[in-house]
Amino acid sequence: MNNKKNETEALKIFFSEDEVFHIPTDSKNKVLQQLLESAFGKLTIEPKKSEFPNHFWSEKRYGFDKSKSYLALDVQQKQRTLRHLTELNLSLSYFIEKSGHNYGAKMILLAKNQDEKALYSLFAAEEAIHQKEFINHMWFTPNKDIHWHPMLDVLGEVMCEGERNTLIYVVQVLLEGFGMSFYSGLGESCEFSPMRNVYSRILQDEARHHGSGVILANFYDVDQNEKEQIFEYTKKFIHALQNASWFVNAIERESGPMSIEEKKTFLENISYEETLTARRRKIRDMLLKVDSWGLVSMLEKDKVI
Ligand SMILES: [Fe+2]
Ligand SMILES: [Fe+2]
Repeated sequence: MNNKKNETEALKIFFSEDEVFHIPTDSKNKVLQQLLESAFGKLTIEPKKSEFPNHFWSEKRYGFDKSKSYLALDVQQKQRTLRHLTELNLSLSYFIEKSGHNYGAKMILLAKNQDEKALYSLFAAEEAIHQKEFINHMWFTPNKDIHWHPMLDVLGEVMCEGERNTLIYVVQVLLEGFGMSFYSGLGESCEFSPMRNVYSRILQDEARHHGSGVILANFYDVDQNEKEQIFEYTKKFIHALQNASWFVNAIERESGPMSIEEKKTFLENISYEETLTARRRKIRDMLLKVDSWGLVSMLEKDKVI
């Protein structure tokens, strides 16, 4: 037990927010970059683009075609709003994939056997390829002040603080499972075909990341400390997802601040409550796959799901 604690404590130094999410992409080492470009050239399915449409997803994706606040914007304001939301979708994917490098590294070091080390080595390599696929479709560099999602705060925290089983439940089962439905929805509604190809390719890998999490979660016993961590981080993760305000913020960037009443009407128009309910149901279904010690009923009792 002590050894296990010491291991998790020792690894914390690798998990500052800067290290996990914001380490510079460009090493300035041109030879290394060429080597990587050539390797990624063989491993990615879509090359770097130099021209992009204004946005990859139209207003329908967000239900904005039914929103009076959105429809009241002029053509340019609408274009900017859709472009901004495209940037947010790509950035969230980019930051999740980026954090996967450190996640893989931590799990390789905490692996119990060679099979698990191999699993997480593949995992880290796949997240590096996914990140590159996203970079190949970005005209901007994600910026934490403009393109952040509150879920990333929880992800950074659990990756730093989480014991091995906590990480398997929260990152692999829950976050990867959420990632699958996020990517699948984005893939289906994406209007830029190279990007659509990328989503369907990435989804196959994410299904293995999530699936291996379910297998490992059901294979190992979870101790009391881990149970408490899993419960707390799952709650935080669901709250962050429920309380994000991307859509309101995107409209307010163009329209100026909305009143409380306007926000309420806006969210009703885009059926936001239904989206949140469907999301909670999906999360519940995911957690039922690893529900051997009463996690789902604990969350229900706390009215989280
Ligand atoms: Fe990924
Ligand atoms: Fe993944």
